[in-house]
Amino acid sequence: MKGLLLAGGHGTRLRPLTFTGNKHLLPIANKPMLLYGLEHLKNAGIKEVGVILGPISEGVVEMLGDGSKFGMSLSYINQPDPKGLAHAVQISENYLGGDPFVMYLGDNLLKQGVSDFIRTFEEKKLNCLVGVCPVKDPSRFGIAEMDNGKIVRLVEKPKEPKSNLALIGVYVFDSTIFDAVKKIKPSWRNELEITDAIQTLLLEGRRVEAQRVSGWWKDTGKPEDLLEANQLILSDLKASVPEDASLSTETTITGAVQLGAGSKTIGEVNIRGPVIIGNNCVLGPDVYIGPYTSIGDDCVLNKVEIENSIVMRGSRIQSNQRIVDSLIGSYSTIVDANGSLPRGYKLIIGERSFAQI
Ligand code: TTP
Repeated sequence: MKGLLLAGGHGTRLRPLTFTGNKHLLPIANKPMLLYGLEHLKNAGIKEVGVILGPISEGVVEMLGDGSKFGMSLSYINQPDPKGLAHAVQISENYLGGDPFVMYLGDNLLKQGVSDFIRTFEEKKLNCLVGVCPVKDPSRFGIAEMDNGKIVRLVEKPKEPKSNLALIGVYVFDSTIFDAVKKIKPSWRNELEITDAIQTLLLEGRRVEAQRVSGWWKDTGKPEDLLEANQLILSDLKASVPEDASLSTETTITGAVQLGAGSKTIGEVNIRGPVIIGNNCVLGPDVYIGPYTSIGDDCVLNKVEIENSIVMRGSRIQSNQRIVDSLIGSYSTIVDANGSLPRGYKLIIGERSFAQI
């Protein structure tokens, strides 16, 4: 079985972070989001994967290469105009050939992986299996309407949802999907919707089933989703601080904290995990890093309290303020201005930004 890993799209909801780069490269717990999906495919025994590249493709090929470093073989399929998930399937027909395949949306994170879905698809000899998960806000997602455990209808972002089962961005298809895609028309948002193609399979009486995900699932479309995904991944973090790390005597580390090679602390530094810190960071003096924070490589932090945030590589923060629930793009600089002292800042800062606060 081959994989189809989607890394295209516009990523408009994650602007400004996606003005300068592909959203799938944004780090969750210091690892580019796309690698979580790729690892799930690999762990399911899939060796050949087609990666969909969209209008902002910079960095993806550089990171993944031909796949050999992952023990996989990767091919790239260009989709310069992101015309929908079903369009991504359509343009991949030649690559995928006649065999079943798993499609994984690269901006989705799940704990469980994809092996169970593939097993069910094969055991039940299905034409299509969709992964689903109950959600509180179904009108944000593609939704599967069920009757007696069977899917009866799929609806994209319904205004009045009749079910709370969202499609989680993992699909297993056989080759019947290609004909179904040929039969559908672009939707009101001018996309070829995968939900419409699967609906066509249902109407043709094909074997389509839904399987609930076990464990958590997170779609990372919006900035707050990235922070939640970061929390979910960091919840399982294992502590690791290199024995030869250069830590000041006034450094306190509690909980699960990972410190990268070459990172050091100066003066009073208090880190309360779960926290991941990349390589070659300089922390302190007077720094507090609170739970659920990821700090990328080569960051410099002093005089700052930060919590539940993602700071991407190469950023510098020097501030007397408290920064919470924030996304700081790579190579950004945040420095203090004299003046009033608000109780906390919440920031979404794109790459190479400068903020004086
Ligand atoms: P979406 O989140 O639906 O779209 P998007 O990534 O363009 O984001 P936004 O809505 O904020 O503009 O896409 C889901 C996943 O599928 C994501 O990983 C991007 C990918 N995708 C493609 O590869 N090709 C496409 O044509 C579309 C629509 C999405």
